[in-house]
Amino acid sequence: MKKELLVLGIETSCDETGVALIRASAGPDLPPGLGGQAEILAQALHSQVSLHAAYGGVVPELASRNHIQRLAPLSEQVIQEAGLSWGELDAVAYTEGPGLAGALLVGASLGQGLAHAIGRPAIGIHHLEGHLLSPLLDPAASGLRFPFLALLVSGGHTQIMRVDGLGQYQMLGETIDDAAGEAFDKSAQLLGLGYPGGPEIARWSAQGNSKRFELPRPLLKRPTLDFSFAGLKTAVLTHVQKLKAADGLDDQARADMAAAVQGAIVDVLTTKCRKALQETGLRQMVVAGGVGANQRLRAQLNAIQKSDQVEVLFAPPHLCTDNGVMIAWAGALHLLAGKPVVVGPGFTVRPRWPLSAFTPKTS
Ligand code: KG4
Ligand code: ZN
Repeated sequence: MKKELLVLGIETSCDETGVALIRASAGPDLPPGLGGQAEILAQALHSQVSLHAAYGGVVPELASRNHIQRLAPLSEQVIQEAGLSWGELDAVAYTEGPGLAGALLVGASLGQGLAHAIGRPAIGIHHLEGHLLSPLLDPAASGLRFPFLALLVSGGHTQIMRVDGLGQYQMLGETIDDAAGEAFDKSAQLLGLGYPGGPEIARWSAQGNSKRFELPRPLLKRPTLDFSFAGLKTAVLTHVQKLKAADGLDDQARADMAAAVQGAIVDVLTTKCRKALQETGLRQMVVAGGVGANQRLRAQLNAIQKSDQVEVLFAPPHLCTDNGVMIAWAGALHLLAGKPVVVGPGFTVRPRWPLSAFTPKTS
């Protein structure tokens, strides 16, 4: 396997159609260390947010149909922007799971079909691994070494993982009910702030007083590294009902509630990260997934670097939410690390696929 690869990445696990073409090269210590480098040659992202907005969440059938319409033109666009032809690709990486079954099938079919047509390997990527490895795209991560901790915070997942190597992920704690992103989204919906809720809550928080409303910080004082956010949503609902009954849900109340929600979620995430760092004795942590774009979370985690003598690294903000770059990058890292390529008929998608039961495979 040559040590520089042109990889096309395809992401269709939920409501973003992401395609990207990267040139990735191995660092001096791959495998088993890190040190890969990537140049993003072209990327395209189509968000389906407006399509699903009226329903307050993603409608799976609409998502699959929209991916079908968008994926081939976006892939063509990316190849053209990079000034390359299909035959120059070394591999095609696509999201194999977890996610919406129909949406995953669209990306997997195109990824496999393309790879077959040009006679190159197709590699199915775990969506969360894509998120987890994306902080490595930042040049600031050049000092990162295994093992390290990872906080994965997205719309569907909230997990603290121990990362011992590429493909070696051990779950230390996870949410027992709602994900952090879901807590942002549901709270925003209750406040009438639009979807997706995370960026809206963050925007409204800037004008809000986080102390006006008291919200629970579930499991904060418990010894576990697990999270729970369902109670937060119920508390927001109770406050909103009281405010509405008193005709008091005005813009200031919305901003104050938004600030309280953001404060509670970020406090819980920060406290559990510190606890995980202390318990494991690890000194480096990466933060990935859509909620990783939150500036308050970044500020609070940055603040513990000095006090706790740890290093916290984030994915570049525009690569925190779903995108094709992270899938191309994860595929490239596996191929550069010498992952064996198995050529065989057929392919699968895995709508439910725990990252800690991760078994990489190519075809
Ligand atoms: O990783 P992602 O794009 O998709 C999933 O795999 O789930 O994450 C989407 C989640 C949504 O819940 C969204 O509200 C949240 O990330 N999010 C944010 C921010 N940007 C996106 N949450 C808080 N603050 C943000 N700035
Ligand atoms: Zn995601």
